[in-house]
Amino acid sequence: MSNDIVLTGIKPTGKVHLGNYIGAIKPALQIAGASDCTSLYFIADYHGLNSIQNRDEFRDLSYSIAATWLALGLNPDRVIFYRQSDVPEIFELCWILACLTSKGLMNRAHVYKAIQDQNEQLGVDADTGVNMGLFTYPILMAADILLFQSDKVPVGKDQIQHVEIARDIAESFNRVYGDTFKLPDYIVDESTAVIPGLDGRKMSKSYNNTIPLFETAENLKKLISKIKTDSTLPQEPKDPETSNIFLLYKEFATPTQVQELRDKYLSGISWGEAKHELFQVVNAALEEPRKKYYDLMAEPEQIDTILSEGARKARALAGPLLKKVKSRIGRYA
Ligand code: ADP
Ligand code: TRP
Repeated sequence: MSNDIVLTGIKPTGKVHLGNYIGAIKPALQIAGASDCTSLYFIADYHGLNSIQNRDEFRDLSYSIAATWLALGLNPDRVIFYRQSDVPEIFELCWILACLTSKGLMNRAHVYKAIQDQNEQLGVDADTGVNMGLFTYPILMAADILLFQSDKVPVGKDQIQHVEIARDIAESFNRVYGDTFKLPDYIVDESTAVIPGLDGRKMSKSYNNTIPLFETAENLKKLISKIKTDSTLPQEPKDPETSNIFLLYKEFATPTQVQELRDKYLSGISWGEAKHELFQVVNAALEEPRKKYYDLMAEPEQIDTILSEGARKARALAGPLLKKVKSRIGRYA
């Protein structure tokens, strides 16, 4: 991946949970840690605006997601870390790209289609609850990506179509105005585990079965004690490979600890004890980040300083390309 530009956006949604951390944040931090690429990670706050229209919530969620990434080890000296709304070039490019994007392409975007299908089932107008921010979401995402000549875009599976749309839009522009934008590729980590929630289904805000990342130690313990288990008796041997507790344990423990717990499962361990072991490793891993998170949230000016510096770097990178684009469309001589 040498010299590649790697870019990803983080949408401020709800409280970050263990599933988000293991499935998205940890792998993204690993990619960002690779020394031979330029990484740009940003808080996609204006993407959130199509659904979060409460002032305080919008503000708090943006800070919270920034604090989460910083607390978990994102190093702003190595990664250009910024807030989307601090980079006006993105929105200027977004308009230019919108003028080269057919409405039909947006009609086919799956997020929009899913809402239309849902509305149809409910027997209401197909566009109920759809604002133009949601409808044109993929164009803004294309601007986010193309403005930095991104080579690689790490995303979850649900975002693949959006990266493909960004490629389509780049191709449309290049066809009309000559080669200008690089065509980005997505990176999807197929090997990442799907982390189960308290009830055994995929951990998700939508299912209300999450273990939020920065709970107090006491709450973390309580939540872990709620993980669903079967009725095997305490002394009976248990299969580590089918145990959700074990799956989570593996994500936080050292190889030696994993082997030790595996042996205990095979010789018989009570679920209570297994949960206790899980709590110990998760709590130990999150203790430092939790403290850092609350320190940052107590002083959002610190977050502002980091994000402003990131925006300064991002704008310095974006300026020349936007200028080139404007010259291509005839805005300059
Ligand atoms: P949620 O399902 O809680 O709404 P999001 O859809 O906002 O979570 O997901 C944000 C990121 O976290 C995505 O990249 C997604 O793939 C990842 N993710 C969410 N839940 C899990 C999970 N249970 N296991 C692994 N990765 C997950
Ligand atoms: N749409 C992404 C999500 O919902 C967030 C996002 C916005 C993004 N712009 C991006 C991701 C650019 C990658 C690249 O998770």
